[in-house]
Amino acid sequence: MKLWRLNPSDTQLEDTQIFQDICDALSDGKLVAIPTETVYGLAADATNGKACAGIYEAKGRPSFNPLISHVDSLEAAQTHAFFDDRALKLAEAFWPGPLTLVLPKLPTSPVSDLAVAGLETIALRVPRSAVMRALCKRTGLPLAAPSANLSGRISGTTAEDVINDLKDHLSYIIDSGATPVGVESTIVSLVGDRPTLLRPGGLAREDVEAVLGEKLVRAGTDDSAPMAPGMLTSHYAPNSHIRLNAEDVAADEALITFGSTLPDGSDKAAKLVPLSDSEDLTEAAARLFTALRQADLGENGKIAVMPIPHHGLGEAINDRLARAAAPRD
Ligand code: TXA
Ligand code: MG
Repeated sequence: MKLWRLNPSDTQLEDTQIFQDICDALSDGKLVAIPTETVYGLAADATNGKACAGIYEAKGRPSFNPLISHVDSLEAAQTHAFFDDRALKLAEAFWPGPLTLVLPKLPTSPVSDLAVAGLETIALRVPRSAVMRALCKRTGLPLAAPSANLSGRISGTTAEDVINDLKDHLSYIIDSGATPVGVESTIVSLVGDRPTLLRPGGLAREDVEAVLGEKLVRAGTDDSAPMAPGMLTSHYAPNSHIRLNAEDVAADEALITFGSTLPDGSDKAAKLVPLSDSEDLTEAAARLFTALRQADLGENGKIAVMPIPHHGLGEAINDRLARAAAPRD
């Protein structure tokens, strides 16, 4: 694995030899960890079924989980899916950005069946990350990229997280520091009559609804038929047992805090891990996965989490926390 340390303000990315080497690796079906504004992606050529199999293998991911295909522009996206007026409105308003659209896949799209897990729909996103878009553009490829972490584990928001989980599987990792948004993209399906929120994420539901001029339906969380397998109940799982909406804390618990007014027993807690002292939900989202890692005290550990408001990005934060706390076998 080779590491490319990138300065986010660097504008000459495409002129470097390593950029070309990474393009060649991607065209050759290799796996590369690429930062996006949400989380790090474990990327490979979406048109290459073998390369996509490498992603599932590296993640230990259940094979029914379809992958998001990343492209550099709306024009490129339109070669893979049918965009109705609603889809065009959302793409124009929020791309590049933390929004993934699930749309009817065009039969002429070269994206592999494995990338879409055999579905007739495709999840597409134009990320804000300049390096990811530049790689798509230079290679001419859609890049399939789930979050760069082992399946069921916390999504990687720093290069160190990704290296810990996946180093043996990667040919390159591009390190641009901590990802600014910190939770995955919001996924909206426009396949049915009603626009449906499949996964809350880095773009607030309210912002999507304002542009659409209608409410989003929230998909059910039935484990037997997950609409977005990111919705599997115990998908985001640290080792520790998690207790939500904690109004107090015991001495053997790590406490994830929100705001500066701490509950009884905080001074004796095993660890205090702040999400946002100023009750800023965007800051809390950006710190969420790192906080879960930091609070994780291992197999028999316990984490208590203070209540987090449900509006704006709080919906995605509470969704991730509920999954992390769900009983597992
Ligand atoms: O922010 C993100 O979205 C990150 C970065 C790397 O872009 N990617 C990410 O990918 O979170 P992943 O694979 O961890 O999550 C993709 C989600 C899965 O829950 C998957 O089931 C859903 O998208 N998905 C993909 N294609 C779908 C489809 N055709 N229909 C319904 N859900 C789909
Ligand atoms: Mg994931």
